[in-house]
Amino acid sequence: MANLLVKNIGVLATAKGSSARKGPEQGDVALLKDAWVLCRDGVIAEVGTGTVPAGYEADAEVIDAAGRLVTPGLVDAHTHLIFGGWRQNELGLKLHGKTYLEIQNAGGGIQSTTNATRQATEEELTEKAARALDEMLRFGATTCEAKSGYGLATEHELKALQVIQNLNDRHAMDIVPTFMGAHLVPKEYKDDRAAYIRLVCEEMMPLVAKQGIAKYCDVFCEADTFTVEESRQVLEAGKKYGLIPKIHADEIEAIGGSQLAGEIGAVSAEHLIVCPPEGIASMAKGGVIACLLPATSFNLGATFAPARDMVNAGVPVAMATDFNPGSCPCLNLQFVINLGCLKYKLTPEEVLTAVTLNGAAAIGMADKVGTVEAGKQADLVIWDAPDLDYICYRVGSNLADIVIKKGNIVAKNH
Ligand code: NIG
Ligand code: FE
Repeated sequence: MANLLVKNIGVLATAKGSSARKGPEQGDVALLKDAWVLCRDGVIAEVGTGTVPAGYEADAEVIDAAGRLVTPGLVDAHTHLIFGGWRQNELGLKLHGKTYLEIQNAGGGIQSTTNATRQATEEELTEKAARALDEMLRFGATTCEAKSGYGLATEHELKALQVIQNLNDRHAMDIVPTFMGAHLVPKEYKDDRAAYIRLVCEEMMPLVAKQGIAKYCDVFCEADTFTVEESRQVLEAGKKYGLIPKIHADEIEAIGGSQLAGEIGAVSAEHLIVCPPEGIASMAKGGVIACLLPATSFNLGATFAPARDMVNAGVPVAMATDFNPGSCPCLNLQFVINLGCLKYKLTPEEVLTAVTLNGAAAIGMADKVGTVEAGKQADLVIWDAPDLDYICYRVGSNLADIVIKKGNIVAKNH
């Protein structure tokens, strides 16, 4: 593989290290002026400033960043990538005042996407998700997480995880798989919740583990969805099968999900829109990463998670899209960056760490991606922007220009 030299970088903005950054370190981002990055065999070989050493240009493909901003490829640490259909029909219901849980309880929401996902073939789901991944790359994300959770039956949960594995093999995006059989109790188990949880823990999990098609286990701990005790049961069972716990917590009602996250040592708790102080304390104690999803707050017309309180309490904050057909039909991490500053009031540096290194740490990828440092994968975004503030402040345009994955250009937008 040829060498790649990205030169004439106006500002190289990157966090540093291979683990999540918390507290004051959340905003500890290097802003290197007049920088260059040499990549060899898809890996960052050297990062420097000032004059490029003689000879480096001669045996490399050279990209002139023209004095613009370069960051690590973004990491989208929370997506529900695999689903059939869409749910634009719910927009009118929302506009007429129906809440997310009302729509869900009336058979819409996750259940209606489950019906569509069960009907879709593996090929159809693969093609649809591949298009979404292409779009994510164009917006600057080079690594993502993807959950199952719209199959809610053994065959269809395995099908979704198989699709993720196929895509990880064939698509430029690095994709980390999460098993989320406990996304909702499907309608056929409505009168026997315990039987569905047994199916998840005793039938689905052993097969998922045997096939090696998921790294994490997630559960939707929420009013009318899975209780704290049911969530604990699912995540403890997942641990026995080597699946690392994650949890959707405090998205709509604070029923105790964030406290549970800290107690069981989840790698991350997600959403946390209405996270109470006890939840923040529990996560800080348990070393849990808060994976915040502000575009979901935006779409639900909800409040925004107490991100500053989390940073102050020493909880590392990651941010992701939550891409899904219901609560967040958005693939654009740049919009998440805007909301991180405008709604969470995090600084551009804190937000950059959230969508790169801390996102990578939330999906076990921080040793490979999330910073621009020698030894990491050569995943870079050259932005149509002069500095980091600019991409946080401009709203609604795609400012990613050249997106590089493992040393190869995978998107060129301008
Ligand atoms: O993260 N909250 C649970 N799951 C998704 C929404 C799923 C859906 O509405 O289809 C979320 O918001
Ligand atoms: Fe989600």
